[in-house]
Amino acid sequence: MVGGGQLARMTHQAAISLGQSLKVLATSPDDSAALIAPNVEIGHHTDLEALKNFAQGCDVVTFDHEHVPNEHLRELEASGVSVQPGPDALRHAQDKLVMRRALAELGLPVPPFAEVTEVADVLRFGAEHGWPCVLKTARGGYDGRGVWVLDTPDGARRTVRELLDSGAPLLVEQKVALRRELAALVARSPFGQGAVWPLVETVQQDGICVQVLAPAPNASAELVEQAQTLALRVAESLGVTGVLAVELFETDHGLVVNELAMRPHNSGHWTIEGSRTSQFEQHLRAVLDYPLGSTELTAPAVVMANLLGSPTEPKMGVDERLHHLFARYPHAKVHLYGKSERPGRKLGHITLLGDDLAQVREQARLAAHWLSRGEWLDGHQIH
Ligand SMILES: Nc1ncnc2c1ncn2[C@@H]1O[C@H](COP(=O)(O)OP(=O)(O)O)[C@@H](O)[C@H]1O
Ligand SMILES: [Mg+2]
Repeated sequence: MVGGGQLARMTHQAAISLGQSLKVLATSPDDSAALIAPNVEIGHHTDLEALKNFAQGCDVVTFDHEHVPNEHLRELEASGVSVQPGPDALRHAQDKLVMRRALAELGLPVPPFAEVTEVADVLRFGAEHGWPCVLKTARGGYDGRGVWVLDTPDGARRTVRELLDSGAPLLVEQKVALRRELAALVARSPFGQGAVWPLVETVQQDGICVQVLAPAPNASAELVEQAQTLALRVAESLGVTGVLAVELFETDHGLVVNELAMRPHNSGHWTIEGSRTSQFEQHLRAVLDYPLGSTELTAPAVVMANLLGSPTEPKMGVDERLHHLFARYPHAKVHLYGKSERPGRKLGHITLLGDDLAQVREQARLAAHWLSRGEWLDGHQIH
């Protein structure tokens, strides 16, 4: 796996049970996966020589992020390496403009969008589709970095000029009047087998995912089927192998695709405990071209809450916070990524299972806030 973040760290856990040994290309020995995997090479994912050396002896090369230059992936493939997902598929997860164009061509619902090469492109788009609109870097953004809401033409002029000067490739989109965000997670193998997990709702704050609710509450069977069919169609049409996450907006007029990720995704972390087959195991099964595993839920309600670094110094160390968390919620499952604490940084996640979504969701909210900050939101006392 190229990239040594938390996704590689959790994929390593799944690889162990499959009798596979996950080799990791990390940029630093303190990367999340480099801290725990025995077979780590240090090198940069933009360095073709490093990639070629790394790929030697691997059955399959797959990814923890989408930042390997597409031309490097092509070179690897040309030299006989099995790259999963391949460069033709992966470019749709590397570049939001490429993705928007391909999905529009397939007749799938995307917001109105336009490429931005000069300030006038945004002003014209805003005049046609209305303000505010959403400006994005086509490449390299994550967790809302790389997304700006432009409220007025004046604000747009300044922001777009600055970004163009920095050399960022940009696109502008209509700001979708969304009811909520959903994610359809599927896997596809080179053989062509597909598997879908139940549709989930993703709850965002400031462009970053804070909770995932599985299955998505108040979703009609029709909506679920539409989302799942759409995701399987994307996987097949683009030739995706491995896990594909399709981020969706639910609107008054149906579903709109936000973006694609071709790897295990934050919207699927709940599957470690909440599904018969976790997205990490499924990703490995898919890229290795094994038959895919059952995606059945293990409980009626599953909630994953991201653990984000506290804005203020927590009152006690993480070990003590964990101690109290487990004392109050013995059924909470915690995954820590081995990262140092910084405000807003994704440090881990917590998963809770139960029968009643509202109850499980509240527990997940309290648990994540506690683990981040060392404060119980509901005034719970520590004895
Ligand atoms: N066109 C849009 N209309 C309304 N909200 C949007 C739009 N695009 C993005 N957003 C909001 O910003 C968040 C991050 O955007 P996204 O393109 O998914 O970037 P990232 O790559 O950082 O995840 C989305 O989850 C959504 O909340
Ligand atoms: Mg996103």
